[in-house]
Amino acid sequence: MVDNYGRTISYLRLSVTDLCNLRCKYCMPETGVCKKRHEDMLTEDEMVTAVTAAARLGIRKLRITGGEPLVKKNILSICRRASAVPGIEEVCVTTNGVLLKDFAADLKKSGVKRLNISLDTLDGEKFRRITRGGDLQAVLSGIETALAAGFRRIKINAVLMGGFNDDEISQLAGLTMKQSVDVRFIELMPMVDAGYKDFDYLPASVVLDRVPGLEPLSVDGVAKLYRLPGAVGSVGLISPVSDNFCDGCNRIRLTADGKFKPCLHKPEEFSVKGLDIAEMMEQFRRAVLAKPRWHGEFSGQSRAGREMNEIGG
Ligand code: GTP
Ligand code: 5AD
Ligand code: SF4
Repeated sequence: MVDNYGRTISYLRLSVTDLCNLRCKYCMPETGVCKKRHEDMLTEDEMVTAVTAAARLGIRKLRITGGEPLVKKNILSICRRASAVPGIEEVCVTTNGVLLKDFAADLKKSGVKRLNISLDTLDGEKFRRITRGGDLQAVLSGIETALAAGFRRIKINAVLMGGFNDDEISQLAGLTMKQSVDVRFIELMPMVDAGYKDFDYLPASVVLDRVPGLEPLSVDGVAKLYRLPGAVGSVGLISPVSDNFCDGCNRIRLTADGKFKPCLHKPEEFSVKGLDIAEMMEQFRRAVLAKPRWHGEFSGQSRAGREMNEIGG
């Protein structure tokens, strides 16, 4: 489907849960997730119906997000059924990697084509701090297991935080030298009450200053790609704040409580909870036609109305 600004919307980001086994400071408030009523969340059948409705209107790529999608107990079934929806060409998952060691092979068997993994630091103590208790080693072995299970073009997401990981930019970019991974640096987005204020915002261009020798490659979705000479993978810059990419936006989101969200940083939502497929298609149409030209100035804070864990990024 084409929106009011001529953009073809072909990519759905489905958040299957807002729960998470970590508590990254920039994503969730310290108090964690305000647990919603079970009956307000989409059932597995409703998720598959919504994906089918969206595919009938032109969605070709599905990215499953969270919270943390691997804490959802029926995640493999959701992946399997979503991969079989007519029209869906690619199912991808964004995960924090903590449970990947146990899940990588099964995700592959369930039809998942690609993985994006969050990793903001290579220092175990800093990892524990930023995630409020996470184990870096679990993520590193999760990445190894995923590579061994045959996942290719794994993307590592590092959120840029001044005063936290700006001293590791070069080391994180260096992961692309030896492993078949792409490392993307993401500008910190000011969401609602999460602790993003604890860190200094850094424009993604800081990566070009800190990592001499990066050669421009191409653009891949929201990321501008570069490569270190002789590297296996690429280095990507995702700049939603300093240089928004809304002109090329091809996405729409569906939250775990069943709201199509036309734009990550806007409060408008279109509910599909309890609807049949025809009604879901109508809500999808409305949501696409409600997509704004761009997310607007942040003027201090996003107008998303939800934290990142409730949207899925
Ligand atoms: P692929 O292109 O399929 O690899 O996915 P992706 O990069 O869109 O997905 P991922 O879940 O890895 O997200 C990476 C970062 O980009 C996260 O911080 C997202 O919040 C951010 N992001 C993704 N889509 C958008 C968008 O439409 N607008 C904004 N502002 N940020 C986005
Ligand atoms: N700003 C930028 N990226 C964020 N993510 C979560 N919260 C934020 C934020 N406030 C990232 C995670 C994950 C991706 C889906 O979104 O690190 O990789
Ligand atoms: Fe969990 Fe991802 Fe949010 Fe971290 S960024 S708390 S891993 S949902």
